[in-house]
Amino acid sequence: MTSQSARHDVVLRAAGNLMVLSAPTGERARLLYCGPDLLDCNAEQLLALAARDHAPGGPEQPIAASLLNATGTGHPCPPGILAHVNSQHWALDPRVVSVEHSDESSCVIVCRDDAAKLEFRHRVFLDSRSGVAGFKTTVTNTGEVTAALEWCAALCLPLDERLTEITSFTGKWAGEFQTEQLSLPRGSFVCENRAGRTSHDSYPGFYLGERTTSETHGIAAAIHLAWSGNHRLRLDRLSDGSLVAQAGELPLSGETTLAPGERYTTPLFAACWSNEGYGDVTRRLHRFVQARLPRTENARPVHYNTWEAVYFDHAPDKLMALAEQAAEAGAERFVLDDGWFGARRSDRAGLGDWVVSGEVYPDGLKPLADHVRALRMKFGLWFEPEMVNPDSDLYRAHPDWILKAEGAITIASRHQLPLDLTRAEVSDYLFERIDTLVAELGIAYIKWDMNRDIQHPGGADGRPAAHRQVKALYALIDRLRAAYPNLVIESCSSGGARADYGILQRTDRVWTSDNNDARARHAIMRGAAHFLPLAVLGNHVGPKRCHITGRRFDMHFRAGTAVFGHMGMELDLSRESEADRAILANAITLHKQHRNLIHGGGYHRLETAPHLNGIGVVAQSKDEALFQLAVLDQHPTPHPPRLHFAGLDPARRYSLSCIWPQPLAKSHGSFAGSALIDYGLQLPQTYPDTCLIYHVKAEI
Ligand code: GLA
Repeated sequence: MTSQSARHDVVLRAAGNLMVLSAPTGERARLLYCGPDLLDCNAEQLLALAARDHAPGGPEQPIAASLLNATGTGHPCPPGILAHVNSQHWALDPRVVSVEHSDESSCVIVCRDDAAKLEFRHRVFLDSRSGVAGFKTTVTNTGEVTAALEWCAALCLPLDERLTEITSFTGKWAGEFQTEQLSLPRGSFVCENRAGRTSHDSYPGFYLGERTTSETHGIAAAIHLAWSGNHRLRLDRLSDGSLVAQAGELPLSGETTLAPGERYTTPLFAACWSNEGYGDVTRRLHRFVQARLPRTENARPVHYNTWEAVYFDHAPDKLMALAEQAAEAGAERFVLDDGWFGARRSDRAGLGDWVVSGEVYPDGLKPLADHVRALRMKFGLWFEPEMVNPDSDLYRAHPDWILKAEGAITIASRHQLPLDLTRAEVSDYLFERIDTLVAELGIAYIKWDMNRDIQHPGGADGRPAAHRQVKALYALIDRLRAAYPNLVIESCSSGGARADYGILQRTDRVWTSDNNDARARHAIMRGAAHFLPLAVLGNHVGPKRCHITGRRFDMHFRAGTAVFGHMGMELDLSRESEADRAILANAITLHKQHRNLIHGGGYHRLETAPHLNGIGVVAQSKDEALFQLAVLDQHPTPHPPRLHFAGLDPARRYSLSCIWPQPLAKSHGSFAGSALIDYGLQLPQTYPDTCLIYHVKAEI
């Protein structure tokens, strides 16, 4: 329910969460509370509870927090807005003008700084399905002089000050989504990214908890910035112990200026919290993402991707044969990766020339696409639209089409340069090329790749264009989607370097990592699933000897690992034994049987010893569940531990079976949910690099 008294208090409620704001006209707007619902609580009570005495030696008047803690307010938090007009009007102090469009779960608070003539529209909402909060701020220059915006967070978000532990997500190519835990010090924890893409090493999201918070108990929170470019997320523990989170785009020097009448809108800053541990935060975030995906395919088709099978060595006959083997193994989509166009026989040439190579495909790609469809698979194609090799016809014709900064040495990465998508002729060229190929070949799926950082995103006007480039990318994808509403798009960026909620509003899946090492994959998937549901996380069965790590794994382990995610294959099937191909086909059948559960069930991380990785997906009805337990090293004890299942109904009875690997498959019998959760199942003796899958079904 929304209530707006004369004091303009706003109370938003959704999915067990509560947000209370105070926005009195002419005063500063303040977020008094956001978190798990406090029944019957209102702004008046919160203000009374939080009333403070004067601090000896401190400011004579109390300085309350406000939505951006602007410099003019005198609040000690690092400001959420840094702006000025010709070096004047830098001490901003926006005051409430109105509260617009308020309903039970969202509102817009309009504030204004009269001296700087800047208007701030703060859009605030609680998502009705997940209770996830969203914040966005639009700054408009209503004056007559250009204003400079140095930093604009979507909001300064006060967090429960009991949250002391942070989990951040970092990594590298082929080692994405690694978690780092630390206790927050007094001061600042800042995560900045200047990669020109979401990045491998600085994921725009954190988890927070208390020392005692677990997967199932305790206060927990998460924040995320839905943006696919440069970002800054910061957590500031102030001297009074309060904790404030900020997230926004990280502008380059002089990047954001607002001419009279111009406006800037921050990316969406999402926040989530729970009194029931990290797991509940994850499931809420998953619901939030699922609801905002452009489309949910009913059953996500099992993939075959050609990259690790052939790399640049394309030969139509070989690919036709691979398509047959892929279909036989159970693939429903065949994605032709890099190497099909222009002079792209290695990563040194051809990028940008989006024309099927006549040298490699004398009859074009149509015969392969038709063959794939005749095998009852969808046809997908790889593109890297934002990039060009200097050794390409495109670059030779348009050397000025790249992003660069005057005075800076142009840096090539993987022999490629970034195109300036903000130039209409560049985006038009890319649209025309992709559009033509999609129409001609009947492409159902695009793997949209982006394989380098952008250090110097300067536009044709010489100004920084990092923001404009991301917007132009979004616009190009949106244009394609509008032309082909059924086209499915995967976001890949050297693996998982563009897997944020901004790109996921216009793409259907992310390529989680180039690392198909089944052992390494568990940590990557576990990390990524803190923010992203398994339905969007590509997980492929790679070759016996992993191309990234050189390690060898048997097919049971490789295939069992890939079952939990959006399953695919990425290997030369002709090099696998017949027996291994049969094991793979069985794993794919198992995935298909359970994919609705895997992609739609509630995701649970099991709390296990570090040499194990356990996760589960539980139907919303709790009627059924599937658990994956990977043994990643030797057990340190003579007997393995018992496995404690999660997410089941303790009051119901379940039949339990091990369904993978096939040699260990058996029915364990029928057990009380409470016993499965709190007593647990003795794990079998296995070698390391075994992936067990358990099926749990409620008895009627
Ligand atoms: C990136 C992707 C890979 C593959 C190659 C092709 O590295 O992450 O999956 O598509 O590009 O060049």
